[in-house]
Amino acid sequence: MRNMVSQGAQRLEPSLIRTVLDRAAALRAEGHNVIPFSAGEPNFNTPSPIKAAAQKAIEENYTHYTSNRGLPGLRAIIAKMMERTTGMSYDPETEILVTSSGAEALNNAIHAFVGEGDEVIIPTPAFVSYKNLVKFTGATVVEVPLSPKECFRLDAKAIEAKITPKSKMIILNNPNNPSGAVYTREDLEAVAKLAVEHDLLVLSDEMYSRLVYDGAEFVSVTSLPGMRERAIVVSGFSKSYAMTGWRLGYLIADKALIAPMLKVHQYSTTCSPTFIQKGLVDSLEDPQTEKEVQDMLAAFAQRRQTILAGLEQIPGLTPITPRGAFYVTVDVSATGMNGMDFANKLLEEKFVATVPAIAFDGDTANLIRISYAASDEDIQEGLKRLNAFVKGLKG
Ligand SMILES: Cc1ncc(COP(=O)(O)O)c(C=O)c1O
Repeated sequence: MRNMVSQGAQRLEPSLIRTVLDRAAALRAEGHNVIPFSAGEPNFNTPSPIKAAAQKAIEENYTHYTSNRGLPGLRAIIAKMMERTTGMSYDPETEILVTSSGAEALNNAIHAFVGEGDEVIIPTPAFVSYKNLVKFTGATVVEVPLSPKECFRLDAKAIEAKITPKSKMIILNNPNNPSGAVYTREDLEAVAKLAVEHDLLVLSDEMYSRLVYDGAEFVSVTSLPGMRERAIVVSGFSKSYAMTGWRLGYLIADKALIAPMLKVHQYSTTCSPTFIQKGLVDSLEDPQTEKEVQDMLAAFAQRRQTILAGLEQIPGLTPITPRGAFYVTVDVSATGMNGMDFANKLLEEKFVATVPAIAFDGDTANLIRISYAASDEDIQEGLKRLNAFVKGLKG
């Protein structure tokens, strides 16, 4: 048979994260206690009011289609959340689109605006989906590697150097997966200015906007001059509400930008599961939901301190201080290994699963990514094993 695989699908690369997760699962199946420093997934459970409300919604037969845009009540709450966190006002009728996950939101945004002949600028390291979704459309990925020495600070000058007449979109992830960088207002303003000058769209993935530490300020690029008409926000409930398996996300943008994304959404998912949407409408504003979310956020802040303090005690490992999300990148070059060899050996010998940061591209060959969305016990045990592993290398 001829090769029937589409050009787009042929361009997709298998994810290194998957490779690590599969190997970790295989080791677990052999009976090993594998420390999960690899997955971007909170170890917490979904807040109890959300679970109860979604079950009730099923009982009450919220099991039919909703509007393609999502339940009006949920769109209204998302608009309120956006206004509270960024000061930006969006019309729930026309400027919010409920999607089945942040992943779907990214897919809609990229397919609605990017195609063959376009260039898309991605500061790296960056979440693996961006590059692959862009490649799928036939557009060209233009990487802008940020500097680990500057804690992956957003570099407008480096972005400017990569702008050509074919540039269409800049993809920002703030706070960043994998680096944990939180972009400053000043750096975002410089990038926003470029977007206006060169008439570019900015796709802003703000999935981790509630997870910031050390007094870092989260600034949505939408709130900067000239950006409301050209910025598209992607976010969702997976990370800050511990709802990774529910698959619910959203897009926020000016109504002229939502319209083409609505078309992509309409022909791919139609609408997100109705009982999940209804469950969220009935529980998001419950004080108990917010309390459980706040408890999780406080736990992440504590775990971040624990992991950074622990890593700093291990000679040969240099953590690059993150200000957001629940990841830390660690320079392992002083051990004589690169990130890939270190992560593989660590997994095989000590059963600690981390991700070689090269999976996220950029200037990361010497780095691994540790996710500290793991339990306190796993963090303590993982640090112990890391210490023993590095000591063993020297011996
Ligand atoms: C930066 C970023 N954006 C989007 C997503 C997708 O989230 P979901 O599809 O679970 O909503 C992830 C998940 O890891 C992420 O790290």
